[in-house]
Amino acid sequence: MTQFDQARDQALSDIAAAGDVEALERLRVALLGKKGSISEMMRALGGMAPDERREHGQRLNVLKDVVAGALESRRTALEDAALDARLARERIDVTLPARPESEGCIHPISQTMDEVIAIFAEMGFAVAEGPDIEDDFHNFTALNFPPGHPARQMHDTFFLPERADGTRLVMRTHTSPVQVRTMLTQKPPIRIVAPGRTYRCDSDMTHTPMFHQVEGLVIDKTTHMGHLKGCLIEFVKTYFEVDRLPVRFRPSFFPFTEPSAEMDIGCSRGKDSLKIGDGADWLEILGCGMVHPNVLANCGIDAEDYQGFAFGLGLERIAMLKYGIPDLRTFFEADLRWLRHYGFAALDVPSLAGGLAR
Ligand code: DAH
Repeated sequence: MTQFDQARDQALSDIAAAGDVEALERLRVALLGKKGSISEMMRALGGMAPDERREHGQRLNVLKDVVAGALESRRTALEDAALDARLARERIDVTLPARPESEGCIHPISQTMDEVIAIFAEMGFAVAEGPDIEDDFHNFTALNFPPGHPARQMHDTFFLPERADGTRLVMRTHTSPVQVRTMLTQKPPIRIVAPGRTYRCDSDMTHTPMFHQVEGLVIDKTTHMGHLKGCLIEFVKTYFEVDRLPVRFRPSFFPFTEPSAEMDIGCSRGKDSLKIGDGADWLEILGCGMVHPNVLANCGIDAEDYQGFAFGLGLERIAMLKYGIPDLRTFFEADLRWLRHYGFAALDVPSLAGGLAR
């Protein structure tokens, strides 16, 4: 038996006997570390004659590979065993009966979404949904944002990696693509609201990369701007629970509506407070307008026969205003103390008859 075979057998039996990862690591240092026995043998090559050096060198390399391989597989085996032991130790009995839940509460965003849906459901709107990952057609083109249109840049879009055909999907920048999906699959009359997550590459005091919107769409033969105003005035009064709420509609621009407007509600601002209702100030609350004939045409609806209105609003914003939540970013920090403070009782489902929020 050569000295190499002896060294190998000794190393392999030591490795097999190492009882834990720490012992194995000490062994690795003793064998392959700077001052380890195999490294010493390597160093001795320097004093040998060329022929001898070549032969010993080759054998030493084989020895080193065998030992390194054995160390590695022993390490994996020890780590697996440690994990199995830990899993067995930390096992929980999922068949235990549940405790009656008294702790969980509803996130203000879910609460606000439920309130908005309850109000529009009462007016005869159905709830529609669309995917968070959209294609360019639904998020932009069908909504009358032609390729290269500057309004696309205002959206700070998150793009997905390029696909084989050179196109890129996007994280939807607004809930408006649900308008398109609804018109492509449903015949008018249409009356839907579409709540959901939206995404923009923007993050500061008043923006988070993910936020929520509710979209609204009404398509019928004679629906006009008066219906839009009546519907949205009714909505804001009911949502903010203020009967005499001043509102105004300011002209604005969105590619998918013509004319377009933004709706403001009256408020008064104190030093550290903001009161919704009468007062000298205005607060922007949503965007709206009459659906652009190009959008109807892109969705296969004849603009000679049909017309309608659409609107979109940010859920975080109206939640902050109604519930006095000062900082947008806290919504998504998952801080339990915040949730307990601003959350809602799980079984108090908002309804117009039973009360929106208690
Ligand atoms: N999609 C717009 C945005 O995210 C909001 C909006 C404005 C939606 C006007 C509408 C609308 O449906 O009519 O900025």
